[in-house]
Amino acid sequence: SKGNHRHYMLKEIYEQPVVVAQTLRSYLRRMDDQLALPVPDFDLDAIRRVTIVACGTSYYAGMVAKYWFEQFARVPVDIDVASEFRYRAPVMADGGLMIVISQSGETADTLAALRHAKAEGQKIAAVVNVPTSSMAREADLLLPTHAGPEIGVASTKAFTCQLAVLAAFAANLARAKGRLNPGEERELVRHLAEAPAALNAALAYDETIEAMADLVAHARDVLYLGRGPDYPLALEGALKLKEISYIHAEGYAAGEMKHGPIALIDDTVPVIVLAPSGPLFEKTVSNMQEVQARGGKVVLISDYDGVQAAGEGCIATITMPKVHPLIAPMVYAVPVQLLAYHVALAKGTDVDQPRNLAKSVTVE
Ligand code: M6R
Repeated sequence: SKGNHRHYMLKEIYEQPVVVAQTLRSYLRRMDDQLALPVPDFDLDAIRRVTIVACGTSYYAGMVAKYWFEQFARVPVDIDVASEFRYRAPVMADGGLMIVISQSGETADTLAALRHAKAEGQKIAAVVNVPTSSMAREADLLLPTHAGPEIGVASTKAFTCQLAVLAAFAANLARAKGRLNPGEERELVRHLAEAPAALNAALAYDETIEAMADLVAHARDVLYLGRGPDYPLALEGALKLKEISYIHAEGYAAGEMKHGPIALIDDTVPVIVLAPSGPLFEKTVSNMQEVQARGGKVVLISDYDGVQAAGEGCIATITMPKVHPLIAPMVYAVPVQLLAYHVALAKGTDVDQPRNLAKSVTVE
């Protein structure tokens, strides 16, 4: 049931601190801050290459994970949307691991990619939310998310749980390959374990975001910008807004703006900038200032330091809790979900059952 929430989507957004904690409990051992992942029946240290395949929001979780696998485990990662992967003669050499990511575990294109890779001798890991699904059954290694049933067509809690599992798995692969010493492992585990509290703190901005929904609800086009692991969040923000409010939205890597999309900027296009303070902050801010110099109306989502440094000249700011860069993609998912939700409410669309969309896409 929706409990006392107006929509399943809102209920599921609010469940995130609890379900992410629930998910992390089966991947981390807090007693001594060690990773505690299921042990595969193949050699993790022999994995030389990772291919990630998924669709929609699950694909964006995979894009974030690519950063982690490369950064922690130093393993090259290929990522593709499932519907493209199958038709491009992918090269699948020995020592390859395919990771499929899917809430339902039944998405037709993703399942077909899994089967294709398996037939080519790849090991398969599946990050899925439905433990009885086809993908869960057919994988060599099952990495379940414990988000509970997700009813809203717009995926929310499944996404943050996928990120939690993928971060733990990337760290686990790094450890297996001798690239994570015990001190580093403890530190990573501690940062990940901070996610539920940070998600909770992010939910406190619900009313602030509701109050700014009007800034976006009347727009015809909206842009989302991010960099590094927060670039996929820009794509996710745009997808959420399109799906449930029917407003045209695009996510861009902040640095790509000057390669074309900046031509779209005028004072009718709200630009949502996702920029937690950290190593990439300055770069993103300079892209944001290029937008402002052309009359663009910027909504900056950052933390206290970021808003202090760059909030001036924005039409609105959201001051998020300051979090470690590892968990920023999880925490920044909350404001983009809430913004899409409140804009959809303002427009009066059917939030849980948007037009033309099915929860599970079982045709190719
Ligand atoms: O069940 P899956 O995770 O495989 O589904 C993938 C996409 O269909 C799904 O994420 C879709 O993009 C959502 N409606 C996004 O909110």
